[in-house]
Amino acid sequence: DYGFFNGQFISLDSASVNLEDRGYQFGDGIYEVTRVYNGKCFALDRHLARCRRSMRELRIPITYMDEELTAIHYDLIEKSGIKDGAIYFQFTRGTSKRTHAFPDQVIPNLSMTIHESTPNAEQQKNGMRCITCEDIRWLRCDIKSLNLLGNVLAKQAAHDKGVDGTIQFRKDNNLITEGSSSNFFIVKDGLIWTHPTDNYILKGVTRSILMEEIIPKLGYTVVEKAFTPEFALTADEAFATSTSLEVTPVIEIDGQKIGTGTPGPIAKALLEEYQKLVQ
Ligand code: PDD
Repeated sequence: DYGFFNGQFISLDSASVNLEDRGYQFGDGIYEVTRVYNGKCFALDRHLARCRRSMRELRIPITYMDEELTAIHYDLIEKSGIKDGAIYFQFTRGTSKRTHAFPDQVIPNLSMTIHESTPNAEQQKNGMRCITCEDIRWLRCDIKSLNLLGNVLAKQAAHDKGVDGTIQFRKDNNLITEGSSSNFFIVKDGLIWTHPTDNYILKGVTRSILMEEIIPKLGYTVVEKAFTPEFALTADEAFATSTSLEVTPVIEIDGQKIGTGTPGPIAKALLEEYQKLVQ
């Protein structure tokens, strides 16, 4: 495992964070996770575009050009020798004496790590069992910020119950938003449903690739429309998407089977097509 911090490649155990990094004290920063397939970063351009947007929304100045970030990704792959894995990177606003408002003179900190990993093929084949929980996150879930406590608690709730994942719903309108670190879809009467991209969900790169490239190609139709947990239970299929899950069927929610309780044909077809794209 290998890392990068502010211009230097480092081994992870030698890296140290300044105690007054604003990421550390305030969660004042943004991140991205990209997947490496056979030594190549998948959809890096989309991840960099989203990274720029997150930074713009939080008014964190840009200190690296896209070409540099791309080069660092490939240097990490080369130095680590990892062919299949995930790269994590984050920009924090920088290091400064603790005060809530932005410090006057501060330069963002960039850190990156690479780890070996592959998607969970067993889960993709057999599907995930999920529970629902209240979405207690803030109102800017469209920003991929370092503040992940709502997501952490949601995922832990699934672990505590011995299931694979959590689907969050808003208490004010009883509508499902997304998973703890994934976007969520259902299929009903041949139509694919998912929450629209607004401030309540992250616009997933995997979601965008499905909607722009794969779903039209396979001749399916998607409606961007939120739905209740009760409606989801009446769906024929359900699935979750993310950089790490790719497309993973959801076969059970709150102990109730979705459709036949096995991965659905549309989810399977979308996964198959996605896996062709990443190779
Ligand atoms: N999570 N929604 C949330 C809340 C997420 O954290 C993620 C990704 C997604 C899917 O986005 P994408 O398709 O771009 O990976 C949706 C990453 C993988 C993580 O936190 O590890």
